[in-house]
Amino acid sequence: MSELDGKTALVTGGATLIGRAVVHALHTAGAAVAVADIDEEGGRSVADELGDRALFERTDIRDDAAVDRFVAAAAERFGGIDILVNLACSYLDEGGASPRADWLESLDVNVVSAVMMTRAVRPHMRARGGGAIVNFTSISSQVAQTGRWLYPVGKAALVQLTRNMAMDLAPDGIRVNSVSAGWTWSKVMVELSGDDRAKTDRVAAPFHLLGRVGDPEEVANVVVFLAGDKASFVTGADWAVDGGYSAMGPEQAEPAIQKLQQ
Ligand SMILES: NC(=O)c1ccc[n+]([C@@H]2O[C@H](COP(=O)([O-])OP(=O)(O)OC[C@H]3O[C@@H](n4cnc5c(N)ncnc54)[C@H](O)[C@@H]3O)[C@@H](O)[C@H]2O)c1
Repeated sequence: MSELDGKTALVTGGATLIGRAVVHALHTAGAAVAVADIDEEGGRSVADELGDRALFERTDIRDDAAVDRFVAAAAERFGGIDILVNLACSYLDEGGASPRADWLESLDVNVVSAVMMTRAVRPHMRARGGGAIVNFTSISSQVAQTGRWLYPVGKAALVQLTRNMAMDLAPDGIRVNSVSAGWTWSKVMVELSGDDRAKTDRVAAPFHLLGRVGDPEEVANVVVFLAGDKASFVTGADWAVDGGYSAMGPEQAEPAIQKLQQ
């Protein structure tokens, strides 16, 4: 018996590398998985790869009616909802030059839509006697990065929102946690590096204790843990899956005090 046998999981943004790994890991652990994404081709192909116990609906999570349709379709097809992974994101960010419309768009995708997904699944989870929600945050939620204002603020909001949700959904038996990923091999990394993993690892090495970027599967493993009963006493927590990025301080992995003697 696998840890998520008989469970149904909903994943937003399941169409690209990290989302796909999360969808596959949940499915391998026994769950039926429904994917919501605006990327029709990517979403369909991940559902096709899985075949049985998988569903894709083209869903724009900024649209309340579309969210309701997606949640209803998943509940009807699989008989209930136990797990929600709020993974879809927007990287729209021109830092301090961003106009109001961009702020609203970024926060709509990265924060408000996660809330609307949660609102929509809550009655279904309550009917099952509980559930688990995993919000995708980021190392960007706790540090300043040049030229980035919108994305980190949205991710920081989601870390706080995870605590708010955990508090108010606990009476329904719903646990809510977040994963803060470090640099992870993903569509954006593939595009920016020209699909050069070795170069990406080299660039990431100085600020990840493990000296490389993470694999999508390494993040997905933590999501499966948080979604399952082995995490039955875990709620309201932010889980770093960052190869030690957040443990490293400004001194980096260099002997700094010794520099005083040089
Ligand atoms: N890539 C990294 O290194 C990294 C690091 C830390 C955290 N994260 C987080 O991991 C998650 C996945 O990141 P990624 O790099 O794979 O992103 P990505 O852009 O490759 O994937 C995001 C997915 O969300 C979908 N999406 C966007 N807007 C949507 C909408 N309105 N409705 C439905 N779907 C929508 C996109 O189509 C895409 O499939 C995000 O939450 C991101 O913040 C990524």
